[in-house]
Amino acid sequence: MSVFYITTPIYYVNDEPHIGHAYSTILADVLSRYHRLFGDEVFFSTGTDEHGLKVQEAAKKRGVEPKKHCDDMVLRFLELWKKLGISYTKFIRTTERRHKFVVQNLLTYLYERGDIYYDTYVGKYCIPEERFWTEKDLVEGKCPSCGRDVITIEEKNYFFKLSKYRDWLVTYIHDHPEFIKPVSRKNEILGFLKKELNDLCISRPKSRLDWGIEIPFDKKYVTYVWFDALINYISNVGVYRNNDSFQKWWPATMHLVGKDIITTHAVYWPIMLKSAGFELPQNIFAHGWWLIQDSKMSKSLGNVIKPIDLIDKYGPSSFRYVLIKNMTLGADANFSEEIVIETINSDLANDYGNLLSRLVQMVQRYYDGVIPESGAESKSEKEIIESGNRLALTVREAVQAIDLNKALNSVLSYIRQINKYIDETAPWNLQKKGDTEKLGTVLYTACEAFRLANTFLAPVIPDKAQQAHLVFGDEILNHIDDINTSQDILQWGRLDPGIKLSPTESLFPRIEHKKRVRKKKMEKKTKKEERIDVNHFQKLDLRVGKILEVEGIKGSKKLYKLVVDIGDEKRQIVAGIAGHYKKNELLEKEIVVVVNLKPAKIMGVESNGMLLAASKGKKLSIITVDQEIAPGSKIS
Ligand code: ME8
Repeated sequence: MSVFYITTPIYYVNDEPHIGHAYSTILADVLSRYHRLFGDEVFFSTGTDEHGLKVQEAAKKRGVEPKKHCDDMVLRFLELWKKLGISYTKFIRTTERRHKFVVQNLLTYLYERGDIYYDTYVGKYCIPEERFWTEKDLVEGKCPSCGRDVITIEEKNYFFKLSKYRDWLVTYIHDHPEFIKPVSRKNEILGFLKKELNDLCISRPKSRLDWGIEIPFDKKYVTYVWFDALINYISNVGVYRNNDSFQKWWPATMHLVGKDIITTHAVYWPIMLKSAGFELPQNIFAHGWWLIQDSKMSKSLGNVIKPIDLIDKYGPSSFRYVLIKNMTLGADANFSEEIVIETINSDLANDYGNLLSRLVQMVQRYYDGVIPESGAESKSEKEIIESGNRLALTVREAVQAIDLNKALNSVLSYIRQINKYIDETAPWNLQKKGDTEKLGTVLYTACEAFRLANTFLAPVIPDKAQQAHLVFGDEILNHIDDINTSQDILQWGRLDPGIKLSPTESLFPRIEHKKRVRKKKMEKKTKKEERIDVNHFQKLDLRVGKILEVEGIKGSKKLYKLVVDIGDEKRQIVAGIAGHYKKNELLEKEIVVVVNLKPAKIMGVESNGMLLAASKGKKLSIITVDQEIAPGSKIS
């Protein structure tokens, strides 16, 4: 048995929770539940980030004190987590006394050891993003992160010596390949660390913002909200207060975050820990974004999805399943109600729900609702048993690799295998023939196989899986925490014959398809394809290129000037990708270059080649290679 400490970001309480918050928390919950199922001891930490300008302004807008605002808003998160069956261990609010105590202790320690100093700062400040930028960070004079206006501020502040630790961090990241995942994010951070790393301004004068944790050695200031927030990961497991707990859980096994906050987690936080003498988390995992029709969700676009509405409509298990099934970890995914309906109908209604109702009906009809004994097993039963026993291993490996699509696909394909086994053995014919031994064997085998599949789906659809288990009189899922030492529910043979079924209503009724989904499919089918022959394709000289330099082009918001290593030479390429990638995200990327394109001038700048990218609507994604390979490698 090992310990597994997982964290979600702590969410801002300036607004109510949306589908992105729900996703990160569901993902952490699913991973926690799988780890408990496999016998690990789990600490699952989540909470709310309650200080800073955004929260202060949201409170002001509502005409209430910031603390009152936080107390109101936190209820929305707690209510949502309850509805979704989130099994967190401890919820942390950054306004709690226990957290303030930790932040102030840590600040004092870092100050006394000389890693925090006082200095004058002149900088460009973005109010909505609450952060300073240097002049060269700005894009056309605006905030490089949100594109809004910045103001010039000159003030005395406290700074944390990030720069002192840059080289150490780069080496640490190289030496610990598991530290930042996926690899694309690791490369993004290494790219970011190639530039000069400025020290971090970690205080705000109270005259400008007073909603924060007071700096213990200077009462005129409060702590920068990110510096305060990151510390939640150690304060929630008892640092400075409960040594046994802290020793047991720290370092965290995994900080789960969205890709938007990877820099704070993979640069600021490790350096804070290093300076304070704590170990670093084992892994920081950044998942992608849920998009709406390829665009980011935003209040101004009016496309923010509220999870509560969907849960009320489709139920918590379906909602959880849809989110986990439809996002490949690390990549972005599109969300729509059509996807919700399609996923529920195909996986949960057709495959899973249908199997359960077939089993219940047959056991009721042929055995008066009592699970029969199994007789001699033939080849087809043995196949089902073997696949069932293999499932534990496959799911465990997929969970270790944080590949939940793979985990779900393996369970779903097992469910399909069971449905096929029933079709092929045709219990209704066995009944007609009077072959009762075989009939009992088939129904026992199929029921036990379903129980196993259900056990491995339970972390994703906990309430429905429990309902299904109870059909077989199996209360195992109520006692999931007691079974850490007895792993027999994960293997074949746990279901006892002689149990009387307790039927339930259909767990996942089919949802009526909207007409436009069908229409779209038809349109896709009828689109004519135009084919080329292979000679046409071979005329293209495609090669792997590595991006060495990225620069903006004066007067253009869309274009970047890149210097790309294509093996035997370096090429200058102009590409219309500036709205889609920050400069540092591109550095070191291995891309696909059309090398034999005639040179052209774009906005007066010579472009000698072209890079390949995929686009849909407003979304654009550069084509990269799957594994590192020498620049200049030919693509065919
Ligand atoms: O950044 N798709 O809080 P936050 C997927 N308080 N996940 C999304 C998402 C989307 N469209 N939008 C948000 C903060 N998220 C800080 C964190 S941690 C010490 C402090 C998720 O309320 C994702 O996990 O803005 C993202 O990182 C987080 O919500 C940001 O939540």
